[in-house]
Parts: sequence; structure tokens; C-alpha cells
Amino acid sequence: MTRVLGIETSCDETGVAVYDGERGLLAHAVYSQVALHADYGGVVPELASRDHVRKLAPMVAELLDRAGVGGRDIGGVAYTAGPGLAGALLVGAAFGRSLAWGWGVPAVGVHHMEGHLLAPMLEEARPDFPFVALLVSGGHTQLVQVEGVGRYGLLGESVDDAAGEAFDKTAKLLGLEYPGGPALARLAEQGDPARFRFPRPMTDRPGLDFSFSGLKTFALTTWQKESRGLDEQARARLRADIARAFEDAVVDTLLIKCRRALEKTGGRSLVLAGGVSANRRLRQAMTEMLAGQGGRAYYPRPELCTDNGAMIAYAGWQRLRAGQCEPAAFDIHPRWDMTALPGLEIS
Ligand code: KG4
Ligand code: ZN
Repeated sequence: MTRVLGIETSCDETGVAVYDGERGLLAHAVYSQVALHADYGGVVPELASRDHVRKLAPMVAELLDRAGVGGRDIGGVAYTAGPGLAGALLVGAAFGRSLAWGWGVPAVGVHHMEGHLLAPMLEEARPDFPFVALLVSGGHTQLVQVEGVGRYGLLGESVDDAAGEAFDKTAKLLGLEYPGGPALARLAEQGDPARFRFPRPMTDRPGLDFSFSGLKTFALTTWQKESRGLDEQARARLRADIARAFEDAVVDTLLIKCRRALEKTGGRSLVLAGGVSANRRLRQAMTEMLAGQGGRAYYPRPELCTDNGAMIAYAGWQRLRAGQCEPAAFDIHPRWDMTALPGLEIS
């Protein structure tokens, strides 16, 4: 299995990529539907599916052009089969399987979170197995012990909102544009870290689970209490200070749990993946913590932290070369337990 076309359509990004087993990532492209959903303050599933339909074929044609390969140079197709929005998943799955059928090559449905988890493997500095992975996206917050591809043990996860979801909801109540995570992080840069201290949820008891929904309520009540009677300039400052306190609380909580997970497993390598791992302060905090312990933190370049086709092409390449593929009838899994995936005997 030399060259794999990867297709990501689980939510509001259309991602395509070609991964080559010898030469690495040949090309990738992401189209974000952010503008399409902005007026609604969140992703509208039906609009997302229709836009994937519009974008996929021209994006793949342009991608192959840029990668300098034709359809007959592709040895397999990987598409996101879940978790995600059912309609959006079906678009990528149907398109990917049709291409594979037309080209006479195998196709495989990839787990979106496995894609995120393996994305750091696309970088030059890549971790060796085993490692602990912190998956922080819009839908998931999980700590995973990773023994190999598909050999995953869940150490802990969020009992309510995912980290990205908490970022997005807090951003919304501060009046920031959808999607709020990156906007909140930018605003936090101007905030005063000493003005408020938000709680670090569930860090005062043992265990590796997370809870982030209380933090957005804390942000809301802080805003309600402090914003009364302020002029516009002071309100803007308050917004930035709350953003900073919120971000510090999330980063610190993730840091405490990651340190605990490494202690528990005896690991020295930590992988950060998923959209929130693009957060600069989180990357910096983890890098410093690991360096202090003689270990190392690994994360993909920011454009491969958020949803993309490259991670799907890479995870699919791993599975296809191990002989895994599915017949032309296909399944998608809007909800999907990653720890139930078949494990591979490679490292
Ligand atoms: O992995 P991803 O692109 O999509 C999912 O699989 O969910 O993650 C998107 C999430 C959103 O909640 C977004 O607000 C958050 O990642 N995010 C960030 C940053 N960039 C993206 N959160 C905090 N800081 C960032 N710089
Ligand atoms: Zn994602």
C-alpha cells in the first residue's frame, strides 16, 4: 500500500489528502464551512452535508493535480466513518467508496479520533509507542494509553462538556463569533492573569476524568457580577480577563491530569491532538511540564490539529497496509467507541 487518498467530512470541514508510505504527505487541502454556519451560531447538519457534496469532487481533482498523481497512482482510499454527523459522514463514505470502486482499489472507514491521535506521526519528530495521548476536540476530551495503532486503553474522559465545547460555549457567552475557541484564545492574550482565578475542576480528587461544564457557568456568573455599570472599555477589558482566567483554568486542569496519567502509566511521551491542541498556551504548558520530567510532548503543526484529510489518509494507510478494508457495502458510526477498534501488531 503505497499511496492513500484520505477524505474527512465528519463535521464542518472538508479535508482531502494524499499520503505516500515512502515520501510522506504529498498534499492536503481543507475547506472550512465556518462562514456557512456563522449566522446560526453552530453547525447546521443538513447544510454541512450539502456543502461537502459541492466541494469534494473539485477538491480531490485539484489535490491530485497538486500532488502530481493520477487516480491510477492511488493504492487505496480512506474516509472518516465516524464519529460525526450522519449525513456528513455519508457524503464522504459514499464518495470515497465510489472512487475506490472505480479505481479498483480497497477502501477503509477510519475513526475520526484515531485520525487525530495519529496526526503527530505526520511530523518529523514523532513519538515511539507506547505513549499517553490527550485528545481534546470539539466533541471529545480523552486521555488514552496508546500501545500501538488500534491498541488503545481509555484512562479518563470528560463527564460533561468536551474541552473544545467549553471553549466554544464560553466564547459565545462573551459575545465572540462562532467558532469561539480560537477567538477566545486570541482575546485571552490581552487578559490579566492575576484578576480572576477560576476553579480547576475535579483535580482535588483522584482519577483522570474531566468536567468542564462548570467553568462556563463560572465565566457567566463572573461576567454578570462584574459587568454591571461598566463603560464599554471596561467591559472589553473584563471580557479579556475572563477569557484569560478561563483559558488558564482549562490548560492547568489538562496539565494536572496529564501529569497524573504519566505518573500512573510510567510514560515519558505525551501526544496532544484534536482542535484544542492548536492552543498555544496549552502546547507551551505541556512542553515545559514534559521537559521538566525528562520527557517530551508531541503535537502536530496547528493546521493538522483541527479537522483535516491528512490524518485520515495516514490512519487509513496504516490500516490498509495491514490488510484491513471493507466490502463495497459500508457502515458509518455517528457514535463510535475508539477502544473497540481492532489492534494492529506493528510499532
Ligand atoms: O478537532 P476539531 O477541529 O473538530 C472536532 O473533531 O471537534 O476541534 C474543534 C474544536 C473547537 O471546539 C474549537 O473551538 C477548538 O477545537 N479550537 C481551539 C483552538 N483552535 C480550535 N480551542 C482553543 N484554542 C485554540 N487555539
Ligand atoms: Zn476533529
